[in-house]
Amino acid sequence: MSKFKVFITRPIPQEIVAQMEAECEIDMWHTSAILPPIAEKIAPLDGLMTYGHEPVSAEMIATAPNLKAVSVVGVGYDHVDEDACRERGIALGHTPGVLSDTTADMTMALLLSAARNIVSAHQHVQVAREWTYYDPNILWGTDVHHTTLGIVGMGRIGYAVARRALGFDMRVLYHKRNRRHDWEEELGIEYAELEYLLQASDFVTLHVPLSEETTHLIGEAELALMKPTAILVNIARGPVVDHGALYEALTSGQIAGAALDVTEPEPINTTHPLLGLENVLIAPHLGSATVQTRTKMATMAMENLLAGLRGEQLPYAVLQPAW
Ligand code: DGY
Repeated sequence: MSKFKVFITRPIPQEIVAQMEAECEIDMWHTSAILPPIAEKIAPLDGLMTYGHEPVSAEMIATAPNLKAVSVVGVGYDHVDEDACRERGIALGHTPGVLSDTTADMTMALLLSAARNIVSAHQHVQVAREWTYYDPNILWGTDVHHTTLGIVGMGRIGYAVARRALGFDMRVLYHKRNRRHDWEEELGIEYAELEYLLQASDFVTLHVPLSEETTHLIGEAELALMKPTAILVNIARGPVVDHGALYEALTSGQIAGAALDVTEPEPINTTHPLLGLENVLIAPHLGSATVQTRTKMATMAMENLLAGLRGEQLPYAVLQPAW
């Protein structure tokens, strides 16, 4: 039997590739520094594994008559044309759950770093080598404990963030389309309309998936509701925040700071004005980037892809065709 033709868009661990080789002829893009040429590669494929949010458009899918499965290494699949997959009966898988705690850890890391000036401290001591005497009056931050956290988008990651925030004795507000009475009861967190959440929170973290509805969910009007002392953390998707409005809010003192793990576009242009601001901290989309979690994600993506190619039930399906 001939092997399934598969393209993997960024390097994944070799031992996982090896597990697929009995059934698949694998072409794995060798680098993350150059965008994978999916449009050039897709025509003969049976399976595609995407690992870097590269767009997989309806036009690309239309050129691949044998395509049976698209497997995303990640929970977010906004870069894949879901409707095109559905129409063609292509299986679509992702990797939910496994990355929630890791991404929640990163959310707290961003929040704490922004609140306590960790990056500026590193800059001061190790980059500029300016720590030549002890100065008790520099780099004062703002307290995290006993403040209010507003979580926008209360899915698995939001839930994991709430649990961590409670360890810091924070009051936790959340906003979500469908209220979670069970989580309110379990954790003692409070549902809030977005407007109130933005007004009342000292820290606002974003965890919504990207959709038409959530694009620029946080813009000029929403930033204007936030406290001048508030810090915004975006670990969801870059376009959830209007970057022009964010720049204005940060430079005018409308809000105190922002910590972004995601930007629009990604990578953010190296000349983007946000990069020059001292009250912004930007990480290169590291939410789930730990050895343990990224390895598990690649394993789940492999399991999804193999199941889709074999015509079986995907263990972590977004779209499961009726084969
Ligand atoms: C996800 O899982 O969607 C993260 O953004 C990493 O790709």
